[in-house]
Amino acid sequence: MIRTVATKPFPDQKPGTSGLRKKVPVFQQPGYLENFIQSIFDSLEGFAGKALVVGGDGRYFNREAIQIVAKIAAANGFGRIVIGKGGIMSTPAVSALIRHLGAFGGIILSASHNPGGPDGDFGVKYNISAGGPAPESITEAIFARTKQIEAYKISDAPDFDIDRLGSVEIENATIEIVDPVTQYLELMKTLFDFAAIRALFASGFTMRFDALHAVTGPYAHAIFENELGAAAGSVVNGTPLPDFGGHHPDPNPTYAKDLYDLMLSAAAPDFGAASDGDGDRNMILGRGIYVTPSDSLAILAANARVAPGYANGLAGVARSMPTSAASDRVTEKLGIRHYETPTGWKFFGNLLDAGLATFCGEESFGTGSNHIREKDGIWAVLLWLSILANRRIPAIDVVRDHWRTYGRNYYTRHDYDEIDLKAAGGLMEALGEAITTLPGKSFGALKVEAADDFEYHDPVDGSIADHQGIRVMFEGGSRIVYRLSGTGTVGATLRLYIERYEPPTGDLEEDTQATLADLIALSRELAGIEARTGRKAPSVIT
Ligand code: G1P
Ligand code: ZN
Repeated sequence: MIRTVATKPFPDQKPGTSGLRKKVPVFQQPGYLENFIQSIFDSLEGFAGKALVVGGDGRYFNREAIQIVAKIAAANGFGRIVIGKGGIMSTPAVSALIRHLGAFGGIILSASHNPGGPDGDFGVKYNISAGGPAPESITEAIFARTKQIEAYKISDAPDFDIDRLGSVEIENATIEIVDPVTQYLELMKTLFDFAAIRALFASGFTMRFDALHAVTGPYAHAIFENELGAAAGSVVNGTPLPDFGGHHPDPNPTYAKDLYDLMLSAAAPDFGAASDGDGDRNMILGRGIYVTPSDSLAILAANARVAPGYANGLAGVARSMPTSAASDRVTEKLGIRHYETPTGWKFFGNLLDAGLATFCGEESFGTGSNHIREKDGIWAVLLWLSILANRRIPAIDVVRDHWRTYGRNYYTRHDYDEIDLKAAGGLMEALGEAITTLPGKSFGALKVEAADDFEYHDPVDGSIADHQGIRVMFEGGSRIVYRLSGTGTVGATLRLYIERYEPPTGDLEEDTQATLADLIALSRELAGIEARTGRKAPSVIT
């Protein structure tokens, strides 16, 4: 039976960069998740009888939330609700399945790379029929609805078994529990030459993939070990855990430190990679080298043709504004389009749909292509493996060769986590005022060429996104970017993105932090970071 339950609005259900993220206890308040899910459906039209894909990254509260989401979806008239076994399905796999089934949309239960567990984070994101995150017009409508909502509809059916493949009927909906890997693996086989990668592993090539106890474990076991023949044990931390083993499921040098240290040690395998909580991020390492996400995007774009799915070349490459300009040099050489978008994967959706861009990437360990409408960690690893299988040189040589061809964009991001909200707001406001006076000023050898608050005009639908980050650009191509995170749940997170270009003939082997030292010092001084936040140093450096 369908019950209509009276409820009261919660004032804080505003979706951020990537859906609604809150601490688990916030989501556990009676009506909190229910209100948000009902508000999503209230903001959509025409889904009666249609399919909804529901996936999660396995974090704490995932299993309870799946039941609630499915029962509300059934009560609201969806005809088919497709759920990954155990409530598990990676973000890229959800995107792929939405597209494959021609589903109306999907709901992803994840807080991505944020920590999990009873005191960790939880999150909900709505994806549209193209497979990508809902555009701002929809997330704004959802937020508006959350402030008005008076009731939600939910089926009173008993909980169904999410651990057994098969289907059950609830109200007028069929709930299907599917293997989360099957369709995703089929899609990967259409893009990559699995036989070529198998031959690479057969030749003795070694790899470590660290799933960080998050959602990619089952995918990595199935694809790298079972399909491609990587040695058993190549995948570590491959069992999804509700608290990710107490770790931060974020593939970067700080939170995937074991892998990072191994890859830079004498015991390193040929190749290393990691993915995040929900499987859309990736970190790439070769023996003796960490590849920045910005460089990885550029290298993947430059070598894309080795994979059958991209044998005809790329239409264009889009990168988020704070991502380094390394990929711009590749698009320029290839004579293809390049785009600079605000932070967040949703801004790539229109470019992909319109066929203007084939690859997209963000400095925050996100890379992907037009095969789906999310970034895709396993996809990036498969493309790297394709390149290594084709070129048969060590990963470090692929990177060095790239720098010798295109030059190197020395690049780092400094994050100041959990700073005071007011202090962060004041800091950004002051920078926003400084952009008018900075151009023309010199700081030691650094002369400011231009400064602005980044504004994006979507070439497809004409929409405008403003206040997307303060950019300070220097003569010679160096740059400092400031923005506040839209995914944090405690206080504010200030992100600084620092970059300097070195031409192919220059010194390509310098230490990144050392070579950027003057820009780093200036970035702190310009924003008065210590005076305003009390922080002497960043919490995370990537
Ligand atoms: C962060 C990243 C951004 C990414 C998002 C979701 O957002 O910076 O590139 O798209 O996570 O994974 P932020 O916290 O900076 O708003
Ligand atoms: Zn993620």
